[in-house]
Order: sequence, then C-alpha cells, then structure tokens
Amino acid sequence: MTAVDDFDRRAGTALDGLRAAGQYKELRAISGPMGPVASIGGREVIVLCSNDYLGLANHPDVVAAGIEGLRSHGAGTASVRFICGTLDVHERLERAVAGLVGTPAALSFVSCWTANEALFPTVTAPGDTVISDALNHASIIDAVRQTRGVERKIYPHNDLAELEAALTSADPGGVRWVVTDGVFSMEGDLAPLPEILDLCRAHEAIVVVDDSHGIGVLGAAGRGAPEHFGLLGQIDVITGTLGKALGGAAGGFVGASERLVELLVQRARPSLFSNALPATVACSATRAIEILLAEPERVARLHDNTARLRQGLRKLGFSCPDGASAIIPIILGDAHKVEAASRRLYELGVLVVGFSFPVVPEGQARLRVQASAALEDAHLDAALEAFGQL
Ligand SMILES: Cc1ncc(COP(=O)(O)O)c(C=O)c1O
Repeated sequence: MTAVDDFDRRAGTALDGLRAAGQYKELRAISGPMGPVASIGGREVIVLCSNDYLGLANHPDVVAAGIEGLRSHGAGTASVRFICGTLDVHERLERAVAGLVGTPAALSFVSCWTANEALFPTVTAPGDTVISDALNHASIIDAVRQTRGVERKIYPHNDLAELEAALTSADPGGVRWVVTDGVFSMEGDLAPLPEILDLCRAHEAIVVVDDSHGIGVLGAAGRGAPEHFGLLGQIDVITGTLGKALGGAAGGFVGASERLVELLVQRARPSLFSNALPATVACSATRAIEILLAEPERVARLHDNTARLRQGLRKLGFSCPDGASAIIPIILGDAHKVEAASRRLYELGVLVVGFSFPVVPEGQARLRVQASAALEDAHLDAALEAFGQL
C-alpha cells in the first residue's frame, strides 16, 4: 500500500466519522451578493447566519469604493508591507480603524486570524504570562500556542475570581497579558470588560480584546465593546476583523500604541513574510467605517432587529439567553437534532447554520441566529414563521 492509499483511507475514516456524528459541514454556494436574502441554487433564502451585521457587504458605496481601489491601485501589492507593499490606502484604513476603536495606532492584516497570530508571538517574551478566557476564539488559542517561553493560563469563561487567581500567581518578572473576546462568537455574551480592566490595572497587566463581533454592533455608535461599557480609549490592545460588520470582505487589524504597532511592523511574521491586504479591500473597508460613523441609525436598527428576533423566538418557546450582541444561540445539545433543524429551516426558506463539535464543545450543538440591520420587518416575520413551523 502506498502512502497516498494510506492517507486516503485515514481521511475517509475521519470524514465518515464526521457524517455519522452529524458534524459534517455541507458547503452551499451562494450565487450573488450577501444580503438579508441570498440566492442558493436558484432559490431565495432569508439569511440569519451571516456576519453582515450592518448590511454593508453589498452597500453600493462600499462596492464602489472597492472598485475604485481596484482601478486606482490595481489588483494587488505583489509584495509584503516592508518591501514595497505599503499603499497609501493601507495607511488611510489604519487611521480610520484606530479612530474607530479608540487606539493611538493600528496595523492591518489579511484577516483577524492573522492579526491575532501576528500579535502574541511578537509582543510576548520568555517569562511573560498570557491569561486567556476558555471560550476565546480559535485564532487566539492558536496564536497563544505560538508563543515561546511564555506561561499560558486559561481561566473558565468570564470567571473573574479565576482570572484574579491567575493574575496573582503569574510570574511578576514578566509582562502579564490578559486576552478576551469582546463578544464570544458562539455564546453571544460579552466579556465583563470593566471588571477585567480593573483587575488588569490592579495587577499591572496588559489587556487585549478581540472585538470582531462587537465592532459595528455594540455601543450607540457601533464602536464596539469598549464603547458599550464606556471604556473607549482605555483598552490597551484591540484586535478585530474587517470581515464582519465593516464590509464583510476580509482583513483584520491590531489597534494599539504607536510603539506596539511599530514592533509589529518590524517583527510580526505575517507582516514580514506575507502579502499586504489588497487595495480594493482596504478601500471598501474604509468606506464601511465612514458609513458606520455617519449613519448610527444602522446600529440602532440592528439593535431593534436583534431584540425582535430574540423576543419572537422566546415567544415560540425557544430558550435564548439575554445579551447585547447580535448573536442569539439556541442550544439544542445533540448535533443530529441541530443538523435536522437547520435543514428544515432551509427548506422553509431560512438559512441558519448549526454548530457542533469542534466549533463548540461536544454535547452543546446549537443553532446560531445572527441579526442584521439589513433585515426588513417582512424578513423577520417570515423567519419567525419558519421557526414556528419548526
Ligand atoms: C472573535 C473572532 N476573532 C477572529 C476571527 C477571525 O476573523 P477573520 O475572518 O478576519 O480571520 C473571528 C471570526 O470568526 C472571530 O469571531
């Protein structure tokens, strides 16, 4: 038997196992733009699972800005940032991002995954401690795993007493870093940032917040979890994505002090060894930020739509936790049950994807409903009607 046969058999067994466990993910191709409604296989479905929180993914001005960026700067940089891949539109985007999230400076990356991977191995040094919430996003988990000589501690989700214990027992010789999602992507709940910040100040730790699901969603102006808690300008490091509320294309960033950003430019491996964000994405994301700041009514509409969905689902008997984010999890437990519910909703014209292991812990499979400002009343009514039939 050849190595290829060997691998083929192993991969086949793994894939069969996923199918049997109800954990196999089917890809459905959408033929057209992302919006409140998407076209799949010639059928229109209401989308309740995209991260297009503000309806900017297909906003005419965002699309036009991307096209204009493509025309003015070409398809790509053909270079990493430090060689000849830094464009004026990157710098414009980075100023806009820093202004939005309330940090002195920002650096863009091709994704938030990359931004997190750039951050932790670069800013930490042997002897440091990184303290991370157990439910942090996979990109944070993987990024922290890439640090060297650093003590890694994980505290139970949002458990402040355990966080304090981890801070107290951390090596006082190194820098202490506390990292948390602003909004937890599978639970939809928020990190208690005021308390976390107090603990970090008391223990002289640096706080890092990944606000990918908070930016464009939380706070009256949509500036994220720090705005929601009245802490704008007080979080040391903020990472986030451009691939959700801010146009939904791709891209991410680290917002931080000038010094930290300077170090990332010099030492972060994704920045040194991988191409910069394409101009078209930099331009469309910058335009998305401008629209967000000019039209706070989009954020208000998102908040209203989220509340309507949550109330409607509860009225139908689904148990949905409270929360300020636009993520409403419906935990059903069993992966097969979730898969069947998602399939039935799809037949009824509503796209809500099920999440099972390894995206969420085993036995906690769920439907994740996400609201968008783009959803009109008729979409919400039709979606709730489908849930009613379910
Ligand atoms: C909290 C968090 N961080 C990072 C990411 C990754 O973002 P990107 O798609 O830009 O890599 C996500 C996306 O799911 C996320 O939810």
